[in-house]
Amino acid sequence: MLNINHLEFTFLKSIGAKTVLKKLMRTFSAVVSLDMDQQKIVVLTGAGMSAESGIKTFRDADGLWEGHDVMEVASPEGWAKNKELVLEFYNQRRRQLNTVKPNAGHTIIAKLEEHHDVIVITQNVDDLHERAGSSNIIHLHGELRSIRSVNNPRMRQYHDDDIHLGDLAPDGSQWRPDIVWFGEAVPELERSIPHVMEAEIIIIIGTSLQVYPAAGLIQYAYKAKKVYYIDPKPKSNYELDRTANLKVIEAGAVEGMEVVYNELVISHDQN
Ligand SMILES: NC(=O)c1ccc[n+]([C@@H]2O[C@H](COP(=O)([O-])OP(=O)(O)OC[C@H]3O[C@@H](n4cnc5c(N)ncnc54)[C@H](O)[C@@H]3O)[C@@H](O)[C@H]2O)c1
Repeated sequence: MLNINHLEFTFLKSIGAKTVLKKLMRTFSAVVSLDMDQQKIVVLTGAGMSAESGIKTFRDADGLWEGHDVMEVASPEGWAKNKELVLEFYNQRRRQLNTVKPNAGHTIIAKLEEHHDVIVITQNVDDLHERAGSSNIIHLHGELRSIRSVNNPRMRQYHDDDIHLGDLAPDGSQWRPDIVWFGEAVPELERSIPHVMEAEIIIIIGTSLQVYPAAGLIQYAYKAKKVYYIDPKPKSNYELDRTANLKVIEAGAVEGMEVVYNELVISHDQN
């Protein structure tokens, strides 16, 4: 807390510290105005968020994920049927991370943190939000750069390399990708709901709103004064149809986030 009395002010002025003082006061008023204007923003992202970084979405490719039936590579049944195929599929996805970069949409979301209290809740398993600089991220469906024991979901660790059959966790069971497959529980859902309930602004980006429970999170938008949905081909679902204060932006993630940033930060600052 900046607390300067008149005597100190006169002293600082007399020793030529006027510029420093002015800077301090400007910083102080910036902090005060940030506190007053700061809003709680929840950003809900799906595969379309990373499309402009070169990572394919899932449903845009005729229901195939990188050429695979999703149930073959992202379900416990697929794992039981062919573990090598599943491991190789995620090894390829993990390797791909080294060839892609966050796009300007990811960067704008990270930049929003300079003005607002932002939490990103993503269905994506890539790490592009982290690499763009966002600091509060919940991965609803797990992360490519994390592995877990087949028998103990809580035994997990960072991993940036391929996983092979026979690679064992400390509990003696096979390592598997730390991904939530279709039909599996979504442990991070519980932590996500209160954020959506508290959000004053919600931004939904690049999701077909088909994968539940993620697609149903919007039903908890109790306080949201504005809900943006950015997608070049916007979809709808039961929950979105009942969402108040909805603004659909028919555009890609980069263009859409430029529009939203302009509304939430630039136009706001000018008023
Ligand atoms: N990058 C990733 O981590 C990744 C990639 C593919 C699939 N997945 C997984 O597959 C599931 C797929 O569900 P989903 O709803 O997230 O994706 P989805 O593939 O079902 O839907 C993608 C949506 O993105 C939109 N889109 C396409 N290009 C876009 C762009 N440039 N900007 C914004 N939106 C764009 C499409 O119109 C579509 O509505 C998720 O659970 C996710 O975990 C993840």
